[in-house]
Amino acid sequence: MTERIALYPGSFDPLTNGHLDVLSRARRIADRVIVAILENDSKTPLFTVAERIEMIREILKDDPSTPVLSFNGLLVDFVKKLGDPVVLRGLRVLSDFEYEFQMALMNRKLHPSFEVVYLMPDEKYTYVSSSMVKEIARLGGKIDELVPAPVLNAIRKKIQ
Ligand code: PNS
Repeated sequence: MTERIALYPGSFDPLTNGHLDVLSRARRIADRVIVAILENDSKTPLFTVAERIEMIREILKDDPSTPVLSFNGLLVDFVKKLGDPVVLRGLRVLSDFEYEFQMALMNRKLHPSFEVVYLMPDEKYTYVSSSMVKEIARLGGKIDELVPAPVLNAIRKKIQ
């Protein structure tokens, strides 16, 4: 039987419990889910790519079925390099849809066999985003229910 491989790309700055929820759902439809962190992001990140890779590997306990990689340049080029896996994205609220829809159609224009599957996280994560988590942490708010423990510790260290 051929292995079903999916690619879960994103900034993951940092990974939240919402991302983890999407990952656990992804495991039901793919044998291997590659987490891929974008390197050339125009946003100024809180964590370096190396820090994010290390944190996510720790959270996923170096599970061989969820390798963590980084990529540069266009997502479609990385997809081609990996042999055309299906791409996974989380969809929380309607505003995500507009961005995702535009991105999917552009990716398909660039690479006609590009395929994307959207997974909805549990409703308790619909309001969780990496940027909000960072803002709340910066302003002294409580984020321990929003991110896994290694992320919580890393944010605390960064913000101190
Ligand atoms: O977690 P994010 O920030 O929503 O992830 C966005 C990501 C990394 C999936 C997207 O920005 C991306 O694919 N960037 C790579 C560059 C690219 O291919 N741009 C054209 C997309 S239409």
